[in-house]
Amino acid sequence: MSVNLNETIWHPRRERKMSEVKSQAILDVIKNCIVKKNNDIPFYVADFSDVLYKCRYWKTKLPRIEPFYAVKCNSDPMLLNLLVSLGIRFDCASKGEIDAVLAAGAESSDIIYAHPFKSNTFLRYAASVNVDLMTFDCEQELHKIKKISPQARLVIRISIPNVPAAFPLSNKFGCTLKEAQKLLVTAQNLGLNIVGVSFHVGSLCEQPFAYAKAIKMAREVFDMAEDIGYHFTLLDLGGGFPGSTGSLDIFDKMCYYITEALEEHFPQGCGVRVIAEPGCYIACSAYTLCCKVIGKKTDDMNLEDEGSYKQQVFYYLNDGAYGSFGYGFEKYGFRIKPLLNFKIY
Ligand SMILES: Cc1ncc(COP(=O)(O)O)c(C=O)c1O
Repeated sequence: MSVNLNETIWHPRRERKMSEVKSQAILDVIKNCIVKKNNDIPFYVADFSDVLYKCRYWKTKLPRIEPFYAVKCNSDPMLLNLLVSLGIRFDCASKGEIDAVLAAGAESSDIIYAHPFKSNTFLRYAASVNVDLMTFDCEQELHKIKKISPQARLVIRISIPNVPAAFPLSNKFGCTLKEAQKLLVTAQNLGLNIVGVSFHVGSLCEQPFAYAKAIKMAREVFDMAEDIGYHFTLLDLGGGFPGSTGSLDIFDKMCYYITEALEEHFPQGCGVRVIAEPGCYIACSAYTLCCKVIGKKTDDMNLEDEGSYKQQVFYYLNDGAYGSFGYGFEKYGFRIKPLLNFKIY
């Protein structure tokens, strides 16, 4: 199946009006599933029209930027199949993710291996299936790549300091501009092929202007590289785009700053391919988790004041921190809709 992303662009205002209708439809599907399944196991309902909408909206707002979906966000095979049919490409961070994307029908050339630290085994595997576009941010990784995948096309990841985000990544990944200068020289001495620059402003970035700052920094690295004889052709804006329902306003602001900064530092026709790695943006609002309160306990809470008590009620769900609620779930600001008095079995 192939879908044309240029067909019928829905207007966001119309989409917002439709969201009530859609959430009612999803509730009906959920109720149906609960009745049919007749068990206590939590499950997700996926609304693929939402994914389609997000991809089309991306194309209207950021027509120059190719999305490489960050598979770590949600590797549901049906989602990957749909994205392949839409012509979306992929950011993978492991062998498992590369396998999943190839199984969904993507080509090796549709993948960026965007983990700055790759195990020898995964790096060898990537080379064996011709995944050759990958990121790095330190000298040790350059030596590893030189040994295992010397023909790779490398993307240097820079860090963007002080960006407020739910999950900042700059402490963990990316190099400073000063380090970048040294790394470019080392890579050149090793005969490695660096083709561009990447960054990540942090998942659920709270400062749309961060993209403008990051693009300006990337331009500086492009210029440094040009000075020593590299000619970069790829700019990777990473992730950071919001994805939950109702977050298009902040996304619109990001698009504004990105478009402006690109016009200033990487104008149309400059020969630079611009990509990004949205994960949350594409997958979050499409998926609804359905779980059940399986237990309730009432307890007396001893207050600091001696002899005074407050009653508290605990509700226990059939999903938890080692399932769908892992990895800082409280930061995602999800919405809860109780299906009260829905008699099941
Ligand atoms: C390298 C890389 N690209 C893309 C993403 C996805 O970004 P987001 O979670 O903001 O959608 C991540 C998330 O951790 C990442 O590490």
